[in-house]
Amino acid sequence: MNFGAIGNLAHRLSLVRKLPPRLVLAKIAKRLPWVDKRSVRVAEIVHSPKDLQPDRLIGFFQTQEAFLQSHGDWVPLDFAGRTVLEIGPGPLAGWGPMAVFRGAERVYGVDPDWVEGAFADPAVEAAYLKPHFEALVRTYGALMDYPTFRSRIRERLVVDRIGLADAAPGFRADIAISNSCLEHISGLQDALSALRGLCGPEARFMHLVNFGNHRNRAAPFETIYEMTPEDYRLRYGGHINLLRAPDVGRAFAGAGIDAHMVVVDRPVELAEAVAMHGYWRERYTLDEVSIRTALFVSAGARDRGTSAP
Ligand SMILES: C[S@@+](CC[C@H](N)C(=O)[O-])C[C@H]1O[C@@H](n2cnc3c(N)ncnc32)[C@H](O)[C@@H]1O
Repeated sequence: MNFGAIGNLAHRLSLVRKLPPRLVLAKIAKRLPWVDKRSVRVAEIVHSPKDLQPDRLIGFFQTQEAFLQSHGDWVPLDFAGRTVLEIGPGPLAGWGPMAVFRGAERVYGVDPDWVEGAFADPAVEAAYLKPHFEALVRTYGALMDYPTFRSRIRERLVVDRIGLADAAPGFRADIAISNSCLEHISGLQDALSALRGLCGPEARFMHLVNFGNHRNRAAPFETIYEMTPEDYRLRYGGHINLLRAPDVGRAFAGAGIDAHMVVVDRPVELAEAVAMHGYWRERYTLDEVSIRTALFVSAGARDRGTSAP
């Protein structure tokens, strides 16, 4: 009997209880081989309270840049005329529409979970893209009207259903960004080596990495530090790579990328609250295992262009 699979199933069932019923149905339908993936993804999006918040991703972006500015000499990213690569943007193309709105020349996203056509569906446009546009206007001003935004998205934004290691943007990126994605990539160093080849020599980047369990914000290290990574994967699956902050730093260095780590959130007491398995104690200091979120950013913070809108 596969006890790991049973543990994993129990975990999935416990997650299902926390979601709206129509979202659960969409998620079940997604796994059935005969269903139309696009319509299921559309249902999943329009019933997901989290995805539909029109200013959620704008808020993350602004918070991260404000944090970097208050903890160093970060100059906000300027998208005007730039080529942009986003890793793991998620089902609503992540920060891509924002980059287009702020004048990016071309934006390319890679996400293995992307469903072709779902983002352009009229239901998604009404439920998300239009409100997102209005949130962009509130935040950055009326940089363009909605028809222009819509057509620029069609012309300038491409997302491919592949992982970072296979990305082929067709340009050298001026800016590379990701939000809570690198912790999901297995074989991170190889993926980052591919990233290095896709970026121009002066490229700026900002990658937010979340080292928690992605389930419980109040106890982000619970279920991670009580066991080895192997046991974790048996019980909870391979949704996160379980690399810690120093490992991610080494993966950037090994890929030849000069990344600077800025710790955002280090709740030491929450790491201390977990009965820590020797695996973690032998390899990391308490300070290292206590990092919940960190930004990995280009070492040269200064922008080459004018300031961002
Ligand atoms: C937690 S979600 C974050 C989505 C979005 N950035 C956001 O903040 O809402 C992580 C995303 O990374 C994607 N992902 C996983 N492995 C990847 C890989 N090798 N390359 C690119 N994206 C990947 C997943 O499909 C998922 O959409």
